[in-house]
Amino acid sequence: MSGPGNSRPVAIAGTGSYLPERVLTNADLEKMVDTSDEWITSRTGIKERRIAADDEFSSHLATNAGRKALEQAGLTADDLELIIVATITPDTLTPATACYVQQNLGATKAVAFDISAACSGFLYAMKIAKRLISDGAFENALIVGAEKLSAFVNWEDRSTCVLFGDGAGAAILKRSEPGKGEILATDIGTDGRQTRLLNIPGGGSACPITIANADQRLASLSMIGNEVFKHAVTRMRDSANAVIARAGLNPEDIKLVVPHQANLRIIDAIADRLAVPNDRVFVNLHKYGNTSAAACPIALDEAHRTGRIEKGDHIVLVAFGAGLTWAAAAVRW
Ligand SMILES: CC(C)(COP(=O)(O)OP(=O)(O)OC[C@H]1O[C@@H](n2cnc3c(N)ncnc32)[C@H](O)[C@@H]1OP(=O)(O)O)[C@@H](O)C(=O)NCCC(=O)NCCS
Repeated sequence: MSGPGNSRPVAIAGTGSYLPERVLTNADLEKMVDTSDEWITSRTGIKERRIAADDEFSSHLATNAGRKALEQAGLTADDLELIIVATITPDTLTPATACYVQQNLGATKAVAFDISAACSGFLYAMKIAKRLISDGAFENALIVGAEKLSAFVNWEDRSTCVLFGDGAGAAILKRSEPGKGEILATDIGTDGRQTRLLNIPGGGSACPITIANADQRLASLSMIGNEVFKHAVTRMRDSANAVIARAGLNPEDIKLVVPHQANLRIIDAIADRLAVPNDRVFVNLHKYGNTSAAACPIALDEAHRTGRIEKGDHIVLVAFGAGLTWAAAAVRW
């Protein structure tokens, strides 16, 4: 699915992120499962990840990230018209995590809902919010990727527990002026034939958790990693190329690629296929692991706050996740 150009430009007016305090290192994991720092580092690039406190939920992570994005955009909660939270680890199945965020922020005028598109969720939210703002339905939006994946990981399964972490990243979108900052092009896609490759099988209507199955840990992430890997590289390459072309850009115009942070080998493969040098690709997965929908916006916020993105720069965001889903955006800052 692709979007045509719009008469009303929409820009990213602010970013924010929040990571829980507790750090879980590869050395810590060596004491929990049969793994090693050497295996995790060489196969994924991850060195440590953050783990939310027991009383810290996805909505808390989202709220903290959202506050920072609001502050940077120079908006108050009272100004907010729309809140979209992308998450696969909602506080509750219903109501939406976005409703808790609305309450926490005191953003009483904002319409709030969640979307579920796994690691691509933040960029799905960007596409939805951009369209709703450019159509004139809303003046601004807070979009957040927030995950407490630690609550849905089987801590005895070494093939998945070393990969994931908790966190949240956010952005404020609002109307812009022609020639200024603008989300130039977006791309989203889905392949529902591949649902078996990456999922949380239990806890939904297909497989409620009962006393009879409680010991099977069905409400935790299950993945066929090597198959996911191949799809990830192809889909992210194609999606990134699509937005670069639709924005009328060439790879050499891209100041920074901000990819989903799942695996350093996937990121390197994409950089190679996009013909973008590695120093133009933002990486922070060594600190946080894969935080699903939060990964792209956390990386975007860090890149922005550390001066890797400046006014007028062209950047590309690209992500991939369960579904399978993929998404990309080309942005002029
Ligand atoms: C998960 C991933 C890192 C595994 O790397 P891989 O090179 O594909 O490794 P494999 O799954 O083939 O496993 C290789 C071996 O390592 C073992 N292994 C798996 N996890 C391990 C761990 N944490 N520590 C040590 N050994 C481990 C496996 O048991 C297997 O052993 P075997 O050969 O004796 O059977 C990799 O497939 C990946 O990153 N895939 C994409 C995942 C992803 O991005 N998911 C999120 C999408 S948003």
